[in-house]
Amino acid sequence: LEFTIRKPDDFHVHFRDGEMMRLVVPETERHFGRALVMPNVPAIEDGRQADDYRARILDSLTSPDGDFFPLMTIKLTHRTTPEMIGEASEVHGVVAAKLYPEGATTGSHDGIRDVEELRPVLAAMRDCRMVLCIHGEWPEAFVLEREERYLPAVEWIVKHFPGLRVVLEHITTAAAVKFVEDASVNVAATITAHHLVLSLDDVLGQGIRPHHFCYPVAKTYVDRSALVYAVAHGKCRRFFFGSDTAPHRRHDKESACGCAGIFSAPVALSVLAGVFFGDEDHHNTLKHRQAALERFTSINGAEFYGLPLNEGTVTLADEPWAVPQTYDRDGDGGGPATVVVPFRAGERLRWRVASS
Ligand code: NCD
Ligand code: ZN
Repeated sequence: LEFTIRKPDDFHVHFRDGEMMRLVVPETERHFGRALVMPNVPAIEDGRQADDYRARILDSLTSPDGDFFPLMTIKLTHRTTPEMIGEASEVHGVVAAKLYPEGATTGSHDGIRDVEELRPVLAAMRDCRMVLCIHGEWPEAFVLEREERYLPAVEWIVKHFPGLRVVLEHITTAAAVKFVEDASVNVAATITAHHLVLSLDDVLGQGIRPHHFCYPVAKTYVDRSALVYAVAHGKCRRFFFGSDTAPHRRHDKESACGCAGIFSAPVALSVLAGVFFGDEDHHNTLKHRQAALERFTSINGAEFYGLPLNEGTVTLADEPWAVPQTYDRDGDGGGPATVVVPFRAGERLRWRVASS
């Protein structure tokens, strides 16, 4: 049994820099046509930095002549000006800017406290047709309520800048699903593979699982079902895939104060196939499930960003494979090796990406 779908895009990745970047970029390049690269680590704040970073990413591709295309973002801080937005929007590959609330996650210490301070910047983004990506968590709220508590700030932005395209990144709650469904056509959301299969139980219900820990944290079964329903059965075409693949070194994850982030790039499509072609689904025919998966991974995001659909395809085959325990890379010049534990490390996954 196998399925072929149009080549997917990943609208939310963290590629890092240096050795880590050279270890992880090929895992995204292998399966995806394009990836939207987040600007938190390293900090990318203007068009020039985005251009340099993009060149380093292209340099770390294993098939430089292939058609993998990195889409770039810049990070909004209190230093961002409308002029910086205008300049960045002219840079090849830059399509979005990312709003991190101050202190919400890794690399957000200089993030935004009050979205109303962004008025001139948001106006410039609307005029340059740049997309606003939002890490929608209110950092001071209780961890399980942070996403829902941030929705009023998103609502303020949408109301005051109706022409601005807004993406709520990596949503995890039924409340955020409903918010997007009820919002105008300029509002969309990315959803990760891991949030379609994990609940908080998988993070700390049976021992503490650092490799299931990320921000926003996985929530309840009800929330997870709302996400799965929205992508597999829902009518709204404004949900699309963003893996939020966020590698950290193993010792930084397996620590008394572990970093948030799940390295999912190598398994993301296999996990998604498990969700869409899972046995529990009695409502949809295989053809419908395949079409829903393709919309989620390969069509909805491109359409929202106004990009052409990818030309190639990927085939997912019912051929179980074993996920490596780690992805490693020897340190350059004899330095320490970079070791990253992938999502589903050591497990057998049913669906393999047979060709891409
Ligand atoms: C991301 C990271 O490590 O950069 N971590 C995460 O848990 N998702 C940052 C982010 O997207 O919040
Ligand atoms: Zn992220």
